[in-house]
Amino acid sequence: MSEQVSLKGAPAFDAERIRADFPILDQQVNGHPLVYLDNAATTQKPEAVIQAIVDYYRHDNSNVHRGAHALAERATEKFENARSKVAAFINAAESRQVIWTKGTTEGLNLVAATWGRTNLKPGDRVLVSGMEHHSNIVPWQMVAAEKGATVEAIPVDATGTIDMDAYAAMLDERVKMVSCGHVSNAFGTINPIQDIIRLAHEAGALCMIDGAQGISHWAVDVQALDCDFYVFSAHKLFGPTGLGVLYGKVELLECMPPYQGGGEMIESVSFAGTTYNQLPYKFEAGTPDIAGVIALGAAVDYVNSYDRVAAAAHEQALLAYAEDKARATPGLKLVGTAANKTAVMSFLLEGAHPHDVGMLLDQQGVAVRTGNHCAQPIMDQYGIPGTVRASFSIYNTFADVDRLFEALTKVRQFL
Ligand SMILES: Cc1ncc(COP(=O)(O)O)c(C=O)c1O
Repeated sequence: MSEQVSLKGAPAFDAERIRADFPILDQQVNGHPLVYLDNAATTQKPEAVIQAIVDYYRHDNSNVHRGAHALAERATEKFENARSKVAAFINAAESRQVIWTKGTTEGLNLVAATWGRTNLKPGDRVLVSGMEHHSNIVPWQMVAAEKGATVEAIPVDATGTIDMDAYAAMLDERVKMVSCGHVSNAFGTINPIQDIIRLAHEAGALCMIDGAQGISHWAVDVQALDCDFYVFSAHKLFGPTGLGVLYGKVELLECMPPYQGGGEMIESVSFAGTTYNQLPYKFEAGTPDIAGVIALGAAVDYVNSYDRVAAAAHEQALLAYAEDKARATPGLKLVGTAANKTAVMSFLLEGAHPHDVGMLLDQQGVAVRTGNHCAQPIMDQYGIPGTVRASFSIYNTFADVDRLFEALTKVRQFL
């Protein structure tokens, strides 16, 4: 599990009770009760989050920060209240360090485009791990091409584990940024980000963490981690799609130019020159996803309402149960077998294309993800087109795992 969390002695977790909070799970798909195992792609939304969106549009809909009327005041208060909740959730020192984005992808692009364009010079190096999501590779490649810098991959071994000796050896004074996933979306590997951040800093580099897959599993403390930037998406934390969070250290955010121009992000505009707003608004041009932000606040309240250590232990128990069954299944090969993993089981079935497996599982009501999971370089390294990925969340049960393997038995017979 996470470096910071011990799951020993965690109290029992009532996944059945939690499940009842997620109305979408109560449906038939292709004539079978839905088993949703695509949580690494997106998590489902509890009633409280859905209701927050409905309530906002029914009662409070108004633009934020600019209206001089009751609805605008109410919307603004709820909007900024959500920012404070998120700041507390990740233990940011100040809520102005929480910047709303469209998602993890935009957070990574924002830092690459603003910090990167301002600070990278010819010959500089940006390190990312070899199993990053494309959204933590391509934005760096774009700015590196512009600035004459290079993007280099930290080696990952056959189990999906970062080679920390190789990483340490790569660090020199030309490395200006290390941008690394908290957890691999392809395999669930939990990366030793505390060490990754410390080593980056010792070498004089900054460190950005892609928390898309980390944020939902345990408490993240950005101050304890000492990361320079941390990004995540609301939709992987039981919140809405199209919204994300960029956390950054104040001194870095202050020095970065704005990402986009428009309303909200300015202090004063004239044709003689424009001045920019203070943090966090400098990075929030245009009308934001107000309903989404308020709903993310509700998602944070929801996550705070259950025992997160017990939930993490439950997810780990599901993973162990599933991987035991996988090892006993002829022709099934697990891909990504790192010692420290979230509840993600990536696998291949001998003689079957992952896509066909996914389709046949779907016909039996079991939703998984197939393909390269936007992590093509690591799939290329392993010489495979992709995997089938079953990813578990707090509302999954041991019965869900049983259903997956019953369905896989039929897939094997069929293929
Ligand atoms: C590790 C990782 N990084 C980045 C992303 C991109 O997230 P989004 O599409 O929400 O911007 C994902 C989404 O799957 C992810 O798993």
